[in-house]
Amino acid sequence: MRKPFVAGNWKMHKTVAEARHLVSEMVPGLQAVSGIDRVLCPPFTTLLAVSALLAGTDIALGAQNMHWEIAGAFTGEVSPSMVAELCKYVIIGHSERRAYFGETDSTVNRKVQSALSHGIVPIVCVGETLQENEARLTEEVILRQIKEGLARIDITDGSTLVIAYEPIWAIGTGRAATAQGANTVIGGVVRSSIAELYGQEVAEAVRILYGGSVKAENAADFFLQSDIDGALVGGASLKAAEFIKIAQAAAQGYLAGQ
Ligand code: PGA
Repeated sequence: MRKPFVAGNWKMHKTVAEARHLVSEMVPGLQAVSGIDRVLCPPFTTLLAVSALLAGTDIALGAQNMHWEIAGAFTGEVSPSMVAELCKYVIIGHSERRAYFGETDSTVNRKVQSALSHGIVPIVCVGETLQENEARLTEEVILRQIKEGLARIDITDGSTLVIAYEPIWAIGTGRAATAQGANTVIGGVVRSSIAELYGQEVAEAVRILYGGSVKAENAADFFLQSDIDGALVGGASLKAAEFIKIAQAAAQGYLAGQ
């Protein structure tokens, strides 16, 4: 069985002082949830402070982005070796990066390649817009994002990759996908395309998350689905009690599936 995975994407929220406060509130409750991977992805400026607070826990740290080059004249960017010093994970190709910062399947591909070669597990985000969804292009869009995002990348160990299916129309809108609908895309499109690229064994091991308006009240529905291995949580990861409840729901969903 795949170990459930719950990650909080803080986006552009929290100063160092605020981050310290939130993490201190969260750690005891999150630590008490066992059997699942818990990951916090706060802004770059807070990574060092958060990593100090997470020392001695098994809660992992992730970055929200990185450049693919190791170093150089890239003002404003953060390199894979800088990320690797503090983080086990990095979110790559989030739809907000694609929509507002010009990221494409090709830059996603470079970043994924670079993360893997630095021993960082990429959380690769895919997902369709509302228009694409309404035009029934979901499958085509996701297949393209996966094939181009992972082009020329060899994966033999499924634990080195996490994928998040985040329909853009569900992000920050309060309008989550249905659990069954998300499971159909995750199993029928995402996992099957990973099987096509890397074989069944790798596909069975890769964790695939759902993201988009996951909250404490709807989390359990997602975690009971056979192909949904966890969640990438935005807004609800900024509230300690809410995020802890989501982690608890993931642990319970895992037990129910055993
Ligand atoms: P949301 O964001 O949970 O606030 O919808 C999810 C994400 O963008 O990763």
